Amino acid sequence: MDWAALVAGALWAMLPAYVPNNAAVLLGGGPPIDGGRTLGGRRLLGDGKTWRGTAGGIGVGLLVAGALNLARPAVAARLGVDLVAFPLLAALGLAAGAMLGDVGASFLKRRLDRERGAAVPGLDQLDFVAGALALAGLFAPAWTRAAFSLPAIAVVVVATPLLHLGTNVAAYGAGLKTEPW
Ligand code: CTP
Ligand code: MG
Repeated sequence: MDWAALVAGALWAMLPAYVPNNAAVLLGGGPPIDGGRTLGGRRLLGDGKTWRGTAGGIGVGLLVAGALNLARPAVAARLGVDLVAFPLLAALGLAAGAMLGDVGASFLKRRLDRERGAAVPGLDQLDFVAGALALAGLFAPAWTRAAFSLPAIAVVVVATPLLHLGTNVAAYGAGLKTEPW
């Protein structure tokens, strides 16, 4: 098996899902999605999930997918590997799914009595991967099957927590985030 091609192809296909959460950190603020509502005395989602951050994250994810489509021929030739293009529905599934997974994780965290910003290792790093694959699979099933073979999914599941931790530690170091996760 060509490991370099597998890893490059899998991470490339996930890029429109990697960017939205980071973009939401930069663009977030304003009214929370849950409007302050509570469930059993706990916030539904919390102040960390805002309309602006969510919409901004999805928008940036779509822009990234468009930029990758433009860059694809040159990058693929340079690396000597096949890289997928992103049709609109696939891009939307990845970007919106990443945000949805993150929102779903917040919902779970509040049910588990974790305050905003509390770390839940595993959930924090893979919530958006699960959401992105699920929504892309729903919006663009054939594309998702072609882009994410089982080995590719395995690569994503192993590599994503490492990449995620790296970018969050960097965002924390730069003062953009209040916790390094
Ligand atoms: N953010 C946002 N909207 C989102 C996701 C993130 O506005 N849908 C912004 C918020 O300012 C949030 C920051 O990005 O505080 C960091 O995101 P994240 O770590 O996902 O949220 P937390 O504040 O840790 O909240 P939670 O515990 O609910 O995950
Ligand atoms: Mg957090």
